[in-house]
Amino acid sequence: MPALQFEILATCHTTKARVSRMTLPHGVTALPAFMPVATQAAIKGLTPQQVESLGITLILNNTYHLNLRPGTKVLQEAGGAHKFQGWRHNLLTDSGGFQLVSLSKFTKITEEGALFSSPFTGEPTMLTPEESISIQHAIGADIMMQLDDVVSSLTTGPRVAEAMARSVRWLDRCIEYHEKSGRTDVQNLFAIVQGGLDPELRNQCLDEMIQRKDRVAGYAIGGLSGGEAKDTFWRIVKQCADKLPADKPRYCMGVGFAEDLLVCAALGVDMADCVFPTRTARFGVALTFKGPMNLKLGKHATEFVPIDENCPCPTCKGGTTRAMLHHIVTLETVAAHAVTMHNLTFQAQVMGGARDAILQGTFPDYLHKFFDNYFGDAG
Ligand code: GUN
Ligand code: ZN
Repeated sequence: MPALQFEILATCHTTKARVSRMTLPHGVTALPAFMPVATQAAIKGLTPQQVESLGITLILNNTYHLNLRPGTKVLQEAGGAHKFQGWRHNLLTDSGGFQLVSLSKFTKITEEGALFSSPFTGEPTMLTPEESISIQHAIGADIMMQLDDVVSSLTTGPRVAEAMARSVRWLDRCIEYHEKSGRTDVQNLFAIVQGGLDPELRNQCLDEMIQRKDRVAGYAIGGLSGGEAKDTFWRIVKQCADKLPADKPRYCMGVGFAEDLLVCAALGVDMADCVFPTRTARFGVALTFKGPMNLKLGKHATEFVPIDENCPCPTCKGGTTRAMLHHIVTLETVAAHAVTMHNLTFQAQVMGGARDAILQGTFPDYLHKFFDNYFGDAG
């Protein structure tokens, strides 16, 4: 029995968008979906029960961080990261590959793996593809990501080709290690397409990784969302989504702006993740269908209405006013809770609305209305 079932329920006639049902060992997740990020096994500002109460069924943890603290010994003793953090639903772990970019000052990459120096002790540790999967086994994630060699999307020259080719070789090592573990019926492995902004390199990577189709449960598009031009980003997402097998989930890594989520969904992407909605909440920005609202601005000081009157989140429903949030935002932790609840509800509404529209055959209309509101001057 495979650990992932993927069933397409509807496809849009005009765009490449689709609605699907992904069944994993910890339940069903409807796609397209946005995955909130819980780097340290906690969504910043929310308890797992609060996350669950928003209807969210899939979150992301980070292998690199959980390996540093609490470490695999504690995770194994707990019976995996689900039990450790009290999360009953699906969990995806990133492999640590992205930290090659985000912590590049502390890393050296060789064919064997990535050599990190611990930010706590300075002690060097080697993260190999096998080690990354071994840690993700201890975590027990429903979806594990391959260790990839990631370069910034702004990198040019031979390093981009080298990282792409190495990501293919590291995929093979991840596949071998995972298949030998006997855990293929309880955990899934996703490949990550690299190749920077070069369509030829992307194409080579796609060809190689699609050859491994029967040995991976899904595909991610990596190496994007790092400051490249929007049209370049869209072209690469389109190229990858068009070529990847239709019968497996497609995950665009590091994408979280509502407008990007909808464009990616229209191009046939099923999953995305980003720290943006939770991080921006802590900085006092509420996401709304009329665009982001900076609660720190003086104009909100006397607005005695919720962030969004139509929002079903506990913050808006409960009657917390913009004036109150303006008063405490970035000062009191309760404001971070309140705005984070709202922002994750917003992300879920954007994606839930997209799924409904695709099912009803009205997705192009949904896109028009969303973009009119979001970038209109009504706010
Ligand atoms: N998060 C955002 N982009 C990437 C990527 O290219 N690889 C990995 N592993 N994680 C990411
Ligand atoms: Zn709300």
